Amino acid sequence: MTPLRRKIVAGTALAGSACALVALATGIFRPAAVSASRPIVIKFSHVVADETPKGAAALYFKRLVEERTQRGVLVQVYPNSELYKDKEELEALQLGSVQMVAPSLAKLGPLGIGEFELFDLPFLFDGYASLHRVTDGPVGRQLMARLDEVGLLGLAFWDNGFKEMSADRPLVVPADFRGLRMRIQSSEVLDAQMRALGAIPDAMALSDVYAALASGVVNGTENVASNFLTQKMYEVQAFLTLSDHGYLGYVVVVNQTFWNQLPGSVRSVLDEAMKDATRFANDIAKSENDAALDRVRKEGKTQIIELSPQQREAWRAALSSVHEGFQRRVGKRLLEDAYRAIGSGRTEARRS
Ligand code: SIN
Repeated sequence: MTPLRRKIVAGTALAGSACALVALATGIFRPAAVSASRPIVIKFSHVVADETPKGAAALYFKRLVEERTQRGVLVQVYPNSELYKDKEELEALQLGSVQMVAPSLAKLGPLGIGEFELFDLPFLFDGYASLHRVTDGPVGRQLMARLDEVGLLGLAFWDNGFKEMSADRPLVVPADFRGLRMRIQSSEVLDAQMRALGAIPDAMALSDVYAALASGVVNGTENVASNFLTQKMYEVQAFLTLSDHGYLGYVVVVNQTFWNQLPGSVRSVLDEAMKDATRFANDIAKSENDAALDRVRKEGKTQIIELSPQQREAWRAALSSVHEGFQRRVGKRLLEDAYRAIGSGRTEARRS
C-alpha cells in the first residue's frame, strides 16, 4: 500500500468511527440494530496469513462482531502486513490509525515493556497447559496492566504454538549454530538466545524474512509451523529441527482512547466476541500447526529433523543462561512468579 492510500484508509476509518460515535452518544445506536450506513469501523492489522491461528481468529472475531451488531460495527481485517509491518502496526495503533492489533509477545519490547519477553525464554513451557497457567493467572494480569502505561489496553492472549529452528544446514547440536546469521523477532531475549548458541541474531519484520532467507542475507530462523508454511519459508530452508524450544503467541490490543470513547453496550458486545474468538484461537492453534507441519513434510523441500531427548537436553543446557540474563534485566519477581505458576506443569508432555 502506498503512503497515500494508507493515509486515506486511516482517515476513512477515523471519520467512520467519529460519525458512529456521535450516533452512539445521541442514543441512536442500539448494539443489536445499528444503522449500517454509519458503522463504527475497527481496523485490525496483522502480519500473518489468514490461514493461521491468528489470521483465522481475527476473521472469526470480525464475523461475530458484525453479526451481533447487525453490521453496526465493522471489523476490517488487514492480514499479511498489507497495511503495516511489525513495528509500524504498534505505532499506528498508538496514533489511532488502526484500532486493533495482535502482535506476537516478542514484539512489545520496543514499546518499553520488555517484560512480555518472558514468553520468549527458551524451554520455559512444556506445553499449552503450563502456558495457560501463566497467561490466565497473576503474571498474565500483571503484564496486561503494563500495557496501560503505553496507552494500550490488552483484551486477550491468543495462542499460537511452539517454535522450530530452521536453516540452510542441519541443526542438531548447539555447535551447529556457530556463526550462522539467524532472523529473530525484535526481542532482547531472542537476541540472547541466538548468541548463547553462538549464532548472530538479525531482527527483522516477518514480511522481510522470505527474501532474506532466499538471498542468503540470513541462514536461518525460528518460527511456528503455521508461519513456516504460509510465509513459504519451506521453499528456502532445507532443514527444520523440531526443537519446540520456545513459545510464540499473541496479545490482542486496542487503543485505549478509542476503546474508552465507545459506549458500554458496544464494549460489552466486543468483549463477548473477543472471549469467543479467544476460545476459537486457542482451540485451533495446535491442530493448525500440526496440519501445517504435515503440509511442509508433503512439500518435500525441507528435511525434518527430530531431536533425541539427549540432544534436546543439550540445547536446554546451552540456553539456560538466557533465563539469568532476563532476570537481571526485568527483575527477579516476574520470573519467579512464572516459574511458580508453571510448577508441576514442567513435567507435562511436549506440545500437549
Ligand atoms: C506472528 O506470528 O505474528 C509473527 C511472528 C514473526 O514475526 O515471526
